[in-house]
Amino acid sequence: MPEPKMNLRKGAKVWVEDKSLAWVAAEITDLKGKQVQVQTVSAKTVLVLPEKLFPRDADEEEEHGGVDDMTKLTYLNEPGVLYNLERRYALNDIYTYTGSILIAVNPFTKLPHLYNVHMMEQYKGAPFGELSPHVFAVADVSYRAMMNEGRSQSILVSGESGAGKTETTKLIMQYLTFVGGRAAGDDRTVEQQVLESNPLLEAFGNARTVRNDNSSRFGKFVEIQFDANGRISGAAIRTYLLERSRVVQITDPERNYHCFYQLCASGKDAAKYKLAHPSHFHYLNQSRTYELEGVSSAEEYMKTRRAMDIVGISHEDQEAIFCTLAAILHLGNIEFSPGREHDSSVIKDQKSTFHMQMAADLFRCDVNLLLATLSTRTIQTREGSIVKALDCNAAVASRDALAKTVYARLFDWLVDKINMSVGQDPNSHIQIGVLDIYGFECFKHNSFEQFCINFANEKLQQHFNEHVFKMEQDEYRKEEINWSYIEFIDNQDVLDLIEKKPIGIIALLDEACMFPKSTHETFSTKLFQNFRGHSRLERAKFSETDFTVSHYAGKVTYQTDTFLEKNRDYVVVEHCNLLASSKCPFVAGLFPSPPEESSRSSYKFSSVATRFKQQLQALMETLNSTEPHYIRCVKPNSLNRPHKFENLSILHQLRCGGVLEAVRISLAGYPTRRTYSEFVDRFGLLAPEFMDTSYDEKALTEKILRKLNLENFQLGRTKVFLRAGQIGVLDSRRAEVLDTAAKRVQRRLRTYIAHRNFISARVAAIQLQAYCRGCLVRKMFAARREAAAAVCLQKYVRRWLFRCAYLKVLSAAVILQSNICGFSTRQKFLHRKKHRAAALIQARWRLCRFRSAFHHYKKSIIAIQCHWRQKLAKRELRRLKQEANEAGALRLAKNKLEKQLEDLTWRLHLEKRMRVSTEETKSVEISKLQKALESLNLELDATKLATISECNKNAVLQNQLELSIKEKSALEKELTVLAEMRKENVLLKSSLDTLEKKNSALEHELKKALKDASDTIEKLRELEQKNTELQQNMQSLEEKLSHLEDENHVLRQKALTPSPKSNRANLTKSFSNKYGGTVNLHQSDRKTAYLKNPDC
Ligand SMILES: Nc1ncnc2c1ncn2[C@@H]1O[C@H](COP(=O)(O)OP(=O)(O)OP(=O)(O)O)[C@@H](O)[C@H]1O
Ligand SMILES: [Mg+2]
Repeated sequence: MPEPKMNLRKGAKVWVEDKSLAWVAAEITDLKGKQVQVQTVSAKTVLVLPEKLFPRDADEEEEHGGVDDMTKLTYLNEPGVLYNLERRYALNDIYTYTGSILIAVNPFTKLPHLYNVHMMEQYKGAPFGELSPHVFAVADVSYRAMMNEGRSQSILVSGESGAGKTETTKLIMQYLTFVGGRAAGDDRTVEQQVLESNPLLEAFGNARTVRNDNSSRFGKFVEIQFDANGRISGAAIRTYLLERSRVVQITDPERNYHCFYQLCASGKDAAKYKLAHPSHFHYLNQSRTYELEGVSSAEEYMKTRRAMDIVGISHEDQEAIFCTLAAILHLGNIEFSPGREHDSSVIKDQKSTFHMQMAADLFRCDVNLLLATLSTRTIQTREGSIVKALDCNAAVASRDALAKTVYARLFDWLVDKINMSVGQDPNSHIQIGVLDIYGFECFKHNSFEQFCINFANEKLQQHFNEHVFKMEQDEYRKEEINWSYIEFIDNQDVLDLIEKKPIGIIALLDEACMFPKSTHETFSTKLFQNFRGHSRLERAKFSETDFTVSHYAGKVTYQTDTFLEKNRDYVVVEHCNLLASSKCPFVAGLFPSPPEESSRSSYKFSSVATRFKQQLQALMETLNSTEPHYIRCVKPNSLNRPHKFENLSILHQLRCGGVLEAVRISLAGYPTRRTYSEFVDRFGLLAPEFMDTSYDEKALTEKILRKLNLENFQLGRTKVFLRAGQIGVLDSRRAEVLDTAAKRVQRRLRTYIAHRNFISARVAAIQLQAYCRGCLVRKMFAARREAAAAVCLQKYVRRWLFRCAYLKVLSAAVILQSNICGFSTRQKFLHRKKHRAAALIQARWRLCRFRSAFHHYKKSIIAIQCHWRQKLAKRELRRLKQEANEAGALRLAKNKLEKQLEDLTWRLHLEKRMRVSTEETKSVEISKLQKALESLNLELDATKLATISECNKNAVLQNQLELSIKEKSALEKELTVLAEMRKENVLLKSSLDTLEKKNSALEHELKKALKDASDTIEKLRELEQKNTELQQNMQSLEEKLSHLEDENHVLRQKALTPSPKSNRANLTKSFSNKYGGTVNLHQSDRKTAYLKNPDC
């Protein structure tokens, strides 16, 4: 869009380019050499070249609602258009005019208030432009034009997918049936049928795509015919380029045509056709999206049925339609596996056989013929026909081709049926055509479909340009001004490149399709050969086969790899024969028998592109014979969300929709038009000297323009026509004049206001000061009185507080003292008690120790004595023996020995008794000591408990002390006492430790005493053992003595016989008297001793 020269001055409002927002509002802050410094609304400072700036009307900022016609914008430029749309969209004003073109921004939310009957009544007959922009206004203007001029009209609705074309078309039809309908009542009036044709066609021709949940997969031109009274008398629907490939192939998250899902959800009907959930069918389960948000397929099915009823499709035909749809679904589930022969195929499994049987039953044709049709191909030769088996892939392709053909024919049949049922009025000469056709498309990968769509858009663009150009010319003619300035940009060269014969892209494509050996490479090569150096066609950068076309809306690169395949619309003769043989009249009717043609192949080629071109040609002829009206639908964001305005995408759509081209055409001529009164109103202040003299606004306008040295403007009958940029110059001059005037007014006003303010401020200040002083003095007096009262109060309160504190401290001190005295007395008592107990233990222990040592020495002495005496006895015995040997001496010795033995035994007995008594006393002493120890332990525990309780009391006292410190510093003295107490406590603790140590030492000594006692017992045992040994010796001595007695007896007897016999007998007698009794008595005593002490 060429932008006229701008008047650059500081503070001027401009638009500046922005990467993310396309354009942002800014203000010139400085001029730096060739560059301009601007500050954006987001306070960003940017340096730009002046030619990159667009002027912005400062008044726009005040007009928050935006203007309803873009041509009313002071500066008609790209950012102005965009910003205006954005402001209006934010207020849910989705419609805006650009001249006679209506721009409709999709609200993506229900706006019922915009489309109710009341609204329709408002727009009915209202002059165009009087009410705010609306689709009803466009529909009404076309209806009025048709009725007034008797000329057919057309409304062309375009825009990208999801922009709202179909919805807008429906609204137009709704409005037309409102203004051109008969009284409501009958359900099957023509207008009702026209309206109901929409849901029906949508069920079969719409599907979910990534861009739109209800995307029309065909173009549509609805012609509504009217009679001379302006009543709808007939209608006809023309459709364009249905997307056939969707029937057999879909991608996630898209869906197949709605009708399939509706049929699957139809309950009884689905069961009748052995249909289940869509996930069971290959043609539907390629994508996992089966449901649409907020749409019930079952309810939609009922609506479709109802629409069929209203449109006039009989029940038999309805049954047949759904039978055919079900058959297509079953057909898609037929799978093939390689056959026995090379390149042949057979049905894969039972499931496939079932689906094939179902498809054949639903098509009402022979199942074997269906199988043969899918898995073989007949080739006609001169010699006759040859049947060729198809491999698995070819069989699947044949199956899919059959499904696509059947669906396409079903769709065409439906359109024909609607046309037939609604009927056309042969007497009607006026009609309104509504075109709902896909807008310009440019994706990352563009294929044959995009090529056809963009071709259609080029055609429509040419029509649009011509129309806008013509409208401009009309305007100039009406105003009787010279219009040779308008430059018309023609896109005929692109159209020639595409459609011209014999050499155009379509012609070359058809040629390539007709040669079996052609590939997309050969097609591309030929294309580049033929159009070398063409300004609109170039080779793609990174591919040999892709080509780029420079369309009116931008360059689009097309990938040619599927061009040939998609352009070939084969009709397989076998398929036609199969379905023509169907017993179902509906199916057979879809495939009328083909004309007898001698063809070698069973494929009949027809070019999709050529057919489309012819359809477009017919459409253009229709449009040319009508008065066109344009509605450009705009999709505000790619997320289909309300209130989201994506500037870049919208600019692209405006460019593609030709809106910016219309603006350009407008700019090429005299884009700014103002009525003379408007002009004088706005710019009269630039030449105040002329204002009072003349009432001729035209002359005044000229004078003003001449004064400003502007040229090339045109003065029409009612309006002044300005060249682009002239309004900018006028505006900036106006702004300057207003600026200076405003400054002067402000200056005067400020002086006046300042003076007035000063006087009133001075009076007010004096009053204020007097009042303030009074207030201050009053406040001071009150404060002083309060202070005196407070001092008095404080005196009493302090006295009371000190007294309370003193009494508290006094009672605390008394309690503390009593507690401390009690504690120290208890401690002293306990100490004394412990001391006495320790002395007692020590006395007892010493007694015990000395006693046991005494007993020990005594026992050792006795043992030594025994030992010594035994030794002496033995020596005596030995001597006696010698004496016995010497006869007389022996007995004496024996007696002596016996006496000694008796002594020894007596002593032993005595010692035993002593030992027993010693042991008894010892055990008594030990038990006494243990009891003393226990009592000491108990005392110790009690002492510990007392200490703990004292500690607790200490803590309590400490707390009290702390409290006392806070309350009164006098308590510090008591703290020192407490510190002493603590010291005492420490001392007590240390004495307790020493006591514990003493206790442990006593325990140790006790253990030692016990050990000594056990040693003594051990020694006693040893003594006992020695005693027994001694007894044994005694026994042996007794035995020896008895021997000695025997011998003595013998010796006595011998002595009796000779003379000295008497002496010997006396000796023996005296010996026995002396020793015999002792020994015997001794033996008996010993026995009793043994009995008395069995342990021995
Ligand atoms: N005027 C409107 N008010 C409310 N919602 C709207 C309006 N126009 C469009 N929509 C919403 O936008 C969606 C898409 O609109 P529509 O189907 O008319 O797009 P389209 O341009 O026909 O797309 P396609 O080219 O894919 O067929 C609708 O389903 C609807 O939700
Ligand atoms: Mg649509």
